[in-house]
Formats: sequence, structure tokens, C-alpha cells
Amino acid sequence: MPEPKRKTILITGASSGLGAEMARQFAARGHDLALCARRIEKLDALKAEIAAAHPDRRVEVRTLDVTDDDQVFEVFRGFKADFGTIDRVIINAGLGKGAPLGTGRYDANRETAMTNFVAALAQSEAAMEIFREQNNGHFVMISSMSAMRGLPKTMTTYAATKAGVAHIAEGLRNELYGKPIKVTVLYPGYIASEMNERVDPSKAKGMVSTEKGVRSMVDAIEKEKDSACVPPLPWAPMSVLMKHAPLPVLKRVM
Ligand SMILES: NC(=O)c1ccc[n+]([C@@H]2O[C@H](COP(=O)([O-])OP(=O)(O)OC[C@H]3O[C@@H](n4cnc5c(N)ncnc54)[C@H](OP(=O)(O)O)[C@@H]3O)[C@@H](O)[C@H]2O)c1
Repeated sequence: MPEPKRKTILITGASSGLGAEMARQFAARGHDLALCARRIEKLDALKAEIAAAHPDRRVEVRTLDVTDDDQVFEVFRGFKADFGTIDRVIINAGLGKGAPLGTGRYDANRETAMTNFVAALAQSEAAMEIFREQNNGHFVMISSMSAMRGLPKTMTTYAATKAGVAHIAEGLRNELYGKPIKVTVLYPGYIASEMNERVDPSKAKGMVSTEKGVRSMVDAIEKEKDSACVPPLPWAPMSVLMKHAPLPVLKRVM
């Protein structure tokens, strides 16, 4: 197998769902991995699974709560020291708690805002510190289809965080235009994971398996696309509808 272009990939939120499956699929494509999340026992199990399937791959794991700013910088710098170079960082850690605003669950909405937005900013700072020093790297932000439009009820805060993180990445792309550091933003649709295992399937139209959804994510990342709705069908056409349909039309279809 030829050496992959971005050899070493750091993935946050790698203990389950999309992060864990990206690790499996990138390992199969010849990448070495720096994996972090809070549940270290899940990361250790994933490391053992990858070692059994791909004994030549190097996998390092570290505990990280992304809402602990100091730990974010420590862990990213620690991985850089382990590997010497970090070629790609995938900011993936996130959660989907939420309640309609004004219904007494500021705690849930705040936790989502701190994890999905403020902690993503800390991860972006730590990633860019490494990439600026290397004058090279691939910055990947996992947003969501929910970033396309303000969404109601339990999704309001989540959608706002995902629009916010997409703008962090787009701002960096604007700044880094023509330079060796590349930026990708992914907008996943419904992909099976721990986050949506309790979602009513009738409300998750178009849900695909973790493996299929992540294959589409990994393809877009390896091509270093500026941005991609994943999987492209039905989500790329759906993004146009979500962005531009008048609200009464959108209410009828979503
Ligand atoms: N699945 C979908 O349909 C979908 C669609 C659009 C976007 N996304 C986005 O994809 C990303 C991955 O989600 P998923 O669907 O794979 O859900 P998941 O299975 O629940 O995985 C979430 C990951 O984030 C980690 N995480 C959560 N809070 C953390 C914290 N404070 N510190 C460190 N890690 C933390 C979790 O690890 P620990 O609990 O071990 O810390 C876990 O590894 C999220 O950003 C999500 O918003 C998912």
C-alpha cells in the first residue's frame, strides 16, 4: 500500500460513533492515529482492535475532556511530541443534549454550547498552534446538516453550535487561502451512532449505518474537499432546501 499523504491523524471524540469508525477506516487506509476522548477504556479497546487488524499502524490514545481548556492544549502537544508531526486534526467530539429555550433546561443547552462550540474553539487553537509551527496540516471540522438553518425546540442550541463551528473553519480557510494548511468542513446528515440511538426512526429520515456514513466522510476528508454534505444523497440537495425554502414550505417537509 502506498504511504498516505497525511500520515498521522488526530481525532477527538474517538471513543464511539463517527470518531471510532473514522479511526478504523483511516487505519485501513494506512494512517497512524492519535485518538482521544473521556472514556479511555473504549479507546484502549479500539486501539487493540486496530492493532489486531492492522499490526503496522501506530495508535496512541489519551484521555481528554474537551471542555477542560488546559487539557486540550496538553493532549494535542503530547500527541505532537509522540509522533513529531500531526498531519491532520479532526475536531469531532460533540454531544446532542438540548431543550426548547425557556423551559428550564439551560443546563443542557449550556453543556452543548460549551462542548460543541467553546471546546471546538479550544481544539481549533491547539490544532492551529501545531499547524502554524509545521507550516502544514489539514484542519477538519465536523459540523452537521443542522448548521444549514436555525432549528426548533431541542435542536436550537445544537444547530447554533454547528453553524458556529463551521464559521470557525471557514474563517480559517479564508485566512489560509493559497497556503499549505488546508481546511475541510463536513456536514453529516443522520448517521447511526450513540448520539442518535434513542431518536425515533420516523424522525430520522435517511439515517444510514455508521460504516456507510463514515465511508462518505473519510472519502471527502481524503480528497480534502473545502466542504461536503455527507452522504451527498440526500443531504447535498437537502442543504439547498434547508437554506432557501420559505419557512412555511420547510415546516411541511421537515
Ligand atoms: N451521528 C450523526 O448523525 C451526526 C450528524 C451530524 C453531526 N454529527 C457530529 O458528529 C460528531 C460525533 O458524534 P457521533 O454521532 O459519533 O456521537 P457519539 O457516538 O455520541 O460520539 C461522540 C463522541 O464525542 C465525545 N465527547 C463528547 N463529549 C466530550 C467531552 N466533553 N470531551 C471529550 N470528548 C467528548 C464522546 O467521547 P467520550 O464520551 O468518551 O468523551 C464520543 O467519542 C459530533 O460532533 C456530532 O455533533 C453527528
